[in-house]
Amino acid sequence: MADKYRFRLFDILKSYYQGILKEDYFLDSAEQRLYRKIYFETFRHLGFIEKALGTLYKTAPDADARAALALGACQILFMNDIPEYAAVNESVSLVDKSKRSFVNAVLRNLARKKDELMAGYNIRKDFPDWFIDRWEKSLGSELDDFLNDLNKKPSFYSVSRDTMQISKVRDESDGYIMDYASYSVARLAGDISPMSVLDCCAAPGGKTFVLSGTYPDARVFAVEKNKRRYEQLKENTAHLKNVDCVCADILELDTEAEFDLVLLDAPCTALGTIKRHPEVRWLRKQRDIKECSKRQKEMLDKAAGFTGKNSTLIYSVCSLEPEETTEVIENFLTNHDTFSIVSPQCDEIFINNDFFVSLPYKTDADGFFACVLKNNR
Ligand SMILES: C[S@@+](CC[C@H](N)C(=O)[O-])C[C@H]1O[C@@H](n2cnc3c(N)ncnc32)[C@H](O)[C@@H]1O
Repeated sequence: MADKYRFRLFDILKSYYQGILKEDYFLDSAEQRLYRKIYFETFRHLGFIEKALGTLYKTAPDADARAALALGACQILFMNDIPEYAAVNESVSLVDKSKRSFVNAVLRNLARKKDELMAGYNIRKDFPDWFIDRWEKSLGSELDDFLNDLNKKPSFYSVSRDTMQISKVRDESDGYIMDYASYSVARLAGDISPMSVLDCCAAPGGKTFVLSGTYPDARVFAVEKNKRRYEQLKENTAHLKNVDCVCADILELDTEAEFDLVLLDAPCTALGTIKRHPEVRWLRKQRDIKECSKRQKEMLDKAAGFTGKNSTLIYSVCSLEPEETTEVIENFLTNHDTFSIVSPQCDEIFINNDFFVSLPYKTDADGFFACVLKNNR
């Protein structure tokens, strides 16, 4: 009989096939490691898994059967520590009686043909075709290094609350855990001693925490539009004495105030976070990139209005797609001639011309882009 965690995992996969994925990384469960591992491996390899399964039936099954098959196939093809019979039996027990013989037959057939199927495996099959096409154009022969790295376990870093320095740690349980690129973005302005800081899109508050500790003499205003995420931001920053949280839409914020430092960590496709969120590659569609780009341009225009003479404006996204990164900056500079790009203050592994660019296979961090702009008005 499948245990309750397997049913939970099954529900997540079903919700994915129904187009309403429930976010659940099993962080509350004592037995989280195994289930997180199956979750991660399934989404990492879903492209290949679906192609392999597709050779074994004629008509695509419904969401229940697809979910049970994907979980079983992942364990059979990619998790050698789980016996095949156990993977098949577990998947069969997840679906109702009318589908059991079908799931059983497909998975047994898959197990029999495992070697033949795996001979056709390559990393590119684990990603959507449009994603491969885009990255092949920019990376050429380094594409496979980039993709292989995206399917690896991410590294973990911890920030010291006393010194605000970051160091690599073994797992997620040590100190204030944060991605190295995300941490670095909040410190890109370097040694500027601001009195006032505006964090335009702040929840859950990772960068607010870094801004607050890096500039302890500044007042940091952290704005978040989404009510649920605002509550999370408030909770996460409650211990920070120099932070004020505001629940508002930055696009509608009407204030004469000018801030010395403005950070716009804009909403984006989050395609740079695939290592930590392997499902993102399947949830995003190519058209989402254009939509995000349009909103980012609008938000950067608005954020610039909160700066005064000599203020610094940082634009960042956890995506590396040109439409969300360099194109946004080019568009901005065409319309704002008092602004110029300044060099980011960070580890040199991130420096790419005058931009901050974190390519995960080179930086051991999430994919991030940022640009530091100065208002010379
Ligand atoms: C990339 S996340 C920010 C991550 C955050 N800076 C951190 O480091 O923890 C973007 C956030 O912007 C919020 N957001 C989106 N549109 C907004 C708007 N118009 N005004 C304010 N917040 C917005 C989203 O709800 C989301 O929480």
